[in-house]
Amino acid sequence: MDKRVYPLATKVIELAGTERPADAVLRLVIRDAGHVGKQTAGELSEMVFGYYRWRAFVTPGRTLEYNLHESEDLVRRFTEQPASFSAEDLKRSVPEWVFDEMADVPTAWLRSLQAEPRLWLRSRTGNSGRVLREVPGSVAAPHVLAPEALYYPGKADLFKTTPFQHGVFEIQDIASQAVGTLCAPRHGDRWWDTCAGEGGKTMHLCDLMENKGTVWATDRVEWRLKQLRIRARRAQIFNFRVALWDGSATPPAEGRCNGILIDAPCSGIGTWQRNPHARWTTSPKDLHELAAIQLSMLNNVVDAVKPGGRIVYSVCTLSRAETTAVANAFTAAHPDFEPLVLGADKGASAQRWIWPQDLGGNGMFIAAWKKKKAAGQLTAPE
Ligand SMILES: C[S@@+](CC[C@H](N)C(=O)[O-])C[C@H]1O[C@@H](n2cnc3c(N)ncnc32)[C@H](O)[C@@H]1O
Repeated sequence: MDKRVYPLATKVIELAGTERPADAVLRLVIRDAGHVGKQTAGELSEMVFGYYRWRAFVTPGRTLEYNLHESEDLVRRFTEQPASFSAEDLKRSVPEWVFDEMADVPTAWLRSLQAEPRLWLRSRTGNSGRVLREVPGSVAAPHVLAPEALYYPGKADLFKTTPFQHGVFEIQDIASQAVGTLCAPRHGDRWWDTCAGEGGKTMHLCDLMENKGTVWATDRVEWRLKQLRIRARRAQIFNFRVALWDGSATPPAEGRCNGILIDAPCSGIGTWQRNPHARWTTSPKDLHELAAIQLSMLNNVVDAVKPGGRIVYSVCTLSRAETTAVANAFTAAHPDFEPLVLGADKGASAQRWIWPQDLGGNGMFIAAWKKKKAAGQLTAPE
């Protein structure tokens, strides 16, 4: 191992904090260190994230370098003898407030948080054979909620590969793929992806519509939408329009939608396997503030849906406040919307959970409603 790894990891941990996520600090430290090769960068990242996974298990009061060695030992022990960590031990993987804010804290979830997450790919429709051939080491793992899913256990930088540059696959978590599948947009639909960000789900919706129909992609952050445009150009996706939207009741364009996806900003508890630093920087106050924003977004889009159309709400988090509490409050406030069962698989429900231990990806909560048709209204204006 490069002897700079311990001092660089120590530096990242000292600089990271609530306002400075460890992954961003890591990138800066690598940039400033100069001549950090791919292998060293990989070892450094594993060490930093391993530390945050096991932070509550190391000895307080010792030096960071000592704690880094301890967390390395814990990573090794967890890999080789996972059963040596009891359900009681694993409770320390998350802050204590989690037990008040989540309706259920399964041991299997806590166990999943302590392992390295999988890197998931979504092959563009019908391209999984090509991905398997052109991305050596990729493994097909189709699921009813993510029929084009593959994962990649290797170390190559997939962004630089020819199939990625040619839009043969996207890098997208399997639970995010499930959200697109459950939206089930039809050819010719008009959808609004309100919190499109860099467009992971927008591109999936566009793919599912096979260029027939339109997806409005909005976000309040302009640079994210710019990234979306770059990604879509690479993937040769054209059936979308982009606009800024700040969560208010004004939609991006006139005309009502067949479907609206609110992939809302959230506390991201469902991504703690991938982003262990966030376990220690998120607070219960964040969850409740975000829940208010999420409910207000839902309330603000109701007029933009056609009768018979659907709203799909998704969050990659698992707190009660941001999931069932938001969904139940929306149902109670909008008698003109009925809860809509999504999917036809055995987990089909109008409020569904995808746990990291179920699919090996992020945790996700998805709820949906259908706008009722007014009495006497024969069909939805399609
Ligand atoms: C969970 S991320 C979206 C991820 C994206 N849908 C994807 O699949 O890649 C939530 C997004 O909501 C956006 N956002 C946060 N607050 C917002 C607001 N008040 N109005 C609109 N968008 C907002 C963020 O900029 C972020 O891009």
